[in-house]
Amino acid sequence: MNTREFIRLGVNVDHIATVRNARGENDPSLVELALVAQHSGADLITIHLREDRRHIRDADVFDLKRHLKIPLNFEMALSEEILAVALKAAPATACIVPERREEVTTEGGLDAARHLGAIKRFTQTLQDAQTDVYLFVEPDLKTVEYAAQAGVKGVEFHTGAYARAFTVPERRKAELVRLETACKAAAALGLKVHAGHGLNYFNVSAVCAIAELHEFNIGHAIIARSLAVGLEQAVFDMKALLTR
Ligand code: PXP
Repeated sequence: MNTREFIRLGVNVDHIATVRNARGENDPSLVELALVAQHSGADLITIHLREDRRHIRDADVFDLKRHLKIPLNFEMALSEEILAVALKAAPATACIVPERREEVTTEGGLDAARHLGAIKRFTQTLQDAQTDVYLFVEPDLKTVEYAAQAGVKGVEFHTGAYARAFTVPERRKAELVRLETACKAAAALGLKVHAGHGLNYFNVSAVCAIAELHEFNIGHAIIARSLAVGLEQAVFDMKALLTR
């Protein structure tokens, strides 16, 4: 069997909720389209319940949990209010992310050194409730050590810098080396290694070649492409790129 068949694709459906919220009705239906993604090869569905609820809302978390047959990955800030929702919804995994209200999207990794105490407390609480915890961090070695200290199951490396460097060959190479080095260090410490942010149909293959990476969380590129080719085809094409 092709070992890359073990690679999982998490489809981030936040932007389906963005479109729905533009008109305040239930159109399109988030659950219906998450089920299409599930049917088309998504291995998990990822959502980010932001503190300002700009896309995903509390009810979406419970509706998705009820209807999906694949795991729900819940991205969350270090917020007591969001932690309470996570404990109630009991997703398979939670990924702790930094969050600033004025940002358009999650702009960088979590400052694990600065927030280590809170990260440890959230991790213990969630993992006691059978939700595995991941930290969304920059691919650097010191941060990997903090993640290991925090007792999390793994890390999701922020691939935004790689994605931005993609069109400049030397910078792309440097970012890939940085990512691969961090992946190896994390795996050596017993952490599971995921990646996400800014990945698309053109830049994902090079990252996919890093043997330690087993899961990719991809949102914007898939939802954007679905407008042209449909969600089923958009998910199918991304999964094919990851597993070929
Ligand atoms: N992973 C995490 C932790 C994220 O916060 C995001 C963005 O919400 C993604 C993956 C997906 O990023 P993109 O929408 O750029 O594919």
